[in-house]
Order: sequence, then structure tokens, then C-alpha cells
Amino acid sequence: MSKLWGGRFTKATNQLVENFTASIEFDQQLAMEDIEGSIAHVTMLGEQEIITHAEANKIIEGLQTIAGKIAAGNVDLKVEDEDIHMNIERLLHEEIGPVAGKLHTGRSRNDQVATDFHLFVKQKTKEVMELVAQVQAAFVKQAEENSDVVMPGYTHLQRAQPVLFSHHMLAYFWMLERDKQRLEDSLKRTNWSPLGAGALAGTTFPIDRERTASLLGFDYVYPNSLDAVSDRDFVLEFLSIASILMTHLSRLSEELIIWSSQEFGFIELDDSFCTGSSIMPQKKNPDVPELLRGKTGRVYGSLFSLLTVLKGLPLAYNKDMQEDKEGLFDTVKTLDGSLRLLAPMIETMKVKQENMYQAVEQDFSNATDIADYLVTKGLPFREAHAIIGRIVLYAIQQNKFLLRLTLEEYQSFSKLFDKDIFSVLEPKHVVDARNSIGGTARKQVVKQLEQARELL
Ligand code: ARG
Repeated sequence: MSKLWGGRFTKATNQLVENFTASIEFDQQLAMEDIEGSIAHVTMLGEQEIITHAEANKIIEGLQTIAGKIAAGNVDLKVEDEDIHMNIERLLHEEIGPVAGKLHTGRSRNDQVATDFHLFVKQKTKEVMELVAQVQAAFVKQAEENSDVVMPGYTHLQRAQPVLFSHHMLAYFWMLERDKQRLEDSLKRTNWSPLGAGALAGTTFPIDRERTASLLGFDYVYPNSLDAVSDRDFVLEFLSIASILMTHLSRLSEELIIWSSQEFGFIELDDSFCTGSSIMPQKKNPDVPELLRGKTGRVYGSLFSLLTVLKGLPLAYNKDMQEDKEGLFDTVKTLDGSLRLLAPMIETMKVKQENMYQAVEQDFSNATDIADYLVTKGLPFREAHAIIGRIVLYAIQQNKFLLRLTLEEYQSFSKLFDKDIFSVLEPKHVVDARNSIGGTARKQVVKQLEQARELL
């Protein structure tokens, strides 16, 4: 069949152009959204009596048949038909004959593709939110099961102050909660309908944009036709949120990798989530978090690619915009794979609490607490800080930890020390003393857990 737009051409398209401009290889992922959008459009055309009811019904039936065939993998999609929109229109012609030609009344591929893409991104946003919630649930489960486990907290990757392992897990819960909120919020904008904007300026037919919007579950109709066909903010927004989300997953991955090293030995990932080495029989590698950390790059890449595509485009549609899809599809696939793996991997990881506790006992992360102790005895914090600095230096020179110094040794630095200093230095006490809102004290973490459970 010749091109749907072939009328003003005298020559066939160069084969290289055909291959270069076609998007069918990837935009076939929009097939169902395309049919859904077309059914809404044609329903409205019938209701507005722009075409007859009989014609509308025939087209709708034809589209439904094609949807069934596509679902069953029973159609031949052609590069000559360039994209999914024209492929489906050609299939409709084959199915119901010339009346198929009435489908595109009052519509352009420009508002059509924008509509399809809105529907797709909307659906994927909801799916990703659901997957994020499953990972959050895994963090909650680990936090509940290890609510008393104490581990070193770090700054600069140097032991800083002990924290509860559950506190650390919940830190990730809250990051993901913000990601979920961002996704939810983005739906307010993704849920605008561009359908009926035409090529760029609207249409001469008495269409009803509110009606197609409501048929498609959109909350709002783009008030400006030029903006409607040119806007890809909703894609940028999804990719931005995805990038932030991947940043979080990548930071988590980095911790899981470090923690499962022999040097740390804080956790062990389940065998079913690790892989071995082809040469070193002893190896158990954290490939999943490593790959997740690595895949973060391609998601950032998709965001930057689309920002760059859009930055110089005049209104309205330009073919450059066809480049909006592959990065988004790839990002959806990356998020889906990553999140689906993370939930069970977190849930099944083994927490080695003795190693964590040992690490806490063999460090100076209770030093702040000795300073706070002197402050409660009336010394200004800066003075206390200086004294404890000297005590730490002394302890390092003596090859001892703070809990092992004697009261006489403490008193040689300040007469304010008494024997109650030793209970202050116990890791559990150090943790529980941080009872400010959002602190690592058990009481606070229990409150956090309640909030977290409520949100899920
Ligand atoms: N395949 C095109 C895309 O994805 C569809 C829109 C084509 N519109 C046009 N005027 N050539 O952007």
C-alpha cells in the first residue's frame, strides 16, 4: 500500500530514509495506548455526529479486533508504515475497508502520539509506585526483625556514632517515600489530555475534548494546542524522578556491597541473589547491587538525552521528538527490573549482628557522649570537646578503647569524671541517649516504624 501521506509526492521514499525515520521497532510498545486513544476519539466523533454512529461502531469493532490480534502476536508491523500509529491505521483498513479512513478525522499524529505517551507514562508511574512500596515494605521488615541491633554509623566512611541498624534501614524507607510522593505528584501533570489539539492549532471539526479526556481517564485538558503537542515535561519529570530514585538505589547498593565485604562482614546476601566466579571457587559476588549501581548511569543518560533533544526545539512538533521514547522505555525496564529484585534481596539478607556490635565496641564512636557527659556536669561543649580529643589521643597511644580506660585515667584529664561515666559509654546507652525526634534511640525508631507502617 502506498503511504497514507503519499499524495503530494512524486517519488518513493529512499530506503535509507525509510529505515532512519521509522520508529515502529520501539513505539510498538504504545500499541494498546494507541488503540485506546483511537477508540476514545472515534466514540466522541460518533457522539458529535462528525461521523455516523454506524461508522464509529464499525471502526471501534475493527480496533478491538486489532487489539486482540496484537495481544496474540498476530500482526505484521511494517517499517514502511513508519510508526505504530500508521501501522494500526493500515491494519484497520485491512480489517474494515475504506471506512477506516474516517478514524483520523479531526486528529493529527501529533496529538495522537502525545496522547499515547501520556497514557503510557501514567500507567508506568503507577506501576513503579507499587514496586517502590514493595521495597519499602522490605526495609520495614528488616527494621522490625533487627530492631535492637546496633551498628556503627559513619560520616566520611569513618566510624562516627553508633546507630540502630533499623534506623539505617528506615533511612532508605524515607528516601523511597519521597520518590513515591514525587511520582504521585507528577501524575497531576501527566494526567492532562493533549487529544484534540490537532497538528498544532486545533481542528475545524466540532470535537469535544472534555469527552475524550474523560473517556481516557485524564483529569484535565491542555488549554493550549501548541503546548499540548510540544510538551514532553511529563516525560522529563518521570526521568528526573527515576534518576533520583536510582541515586537512592545506587547508594543503597554501594552500602550492601561494602557491608558484604569480608572487611565489614555486616550482612550476607542470600545465595540466590549472588553469583560466583569462573576462576576463583571461593567467590560469592554481589553482582545484583553492583549492576544496579551501574545501571543508574543509563537512567541519568536518558534524562540528559531528552533534555538535550528538547532544549533547542521551536514550537510545535518536530521530528526530533520521536527521540523521546527509547530512553523512557529503557528507564521503565531498568526501574522495573531493579525494584523487583531489590525487595526480595533486602528481605532475605542476613544481618550479622555480632560483627556489627563488635565493630561498635572497638572504636571511638562513643567519644561525643563523653563530651556530652562533661557538658551535663557544667563544662562548655567546646572545652569538653578539647579534653576528649586529648583522651582519645591518649587511648590510641595506650592501644585501648574508651570503655577500657580506668576512672583514674579519666580523672587525670578532668576532675568532673565519676564512675557513672562507664554506663554512659555502653553502645546501647549511647544509642538510646539520642532520643530527639528522628534520632536513633529505640523509642524514636519505634515511632518511625509506626509511621512507616501507616504509610504502606
Ligand atoms: N512517530 C512519531 C513520533 O514518535 C509520531 C508523530 C509523527 N508526526 C509527524 N508529524 N511526523 O514522534
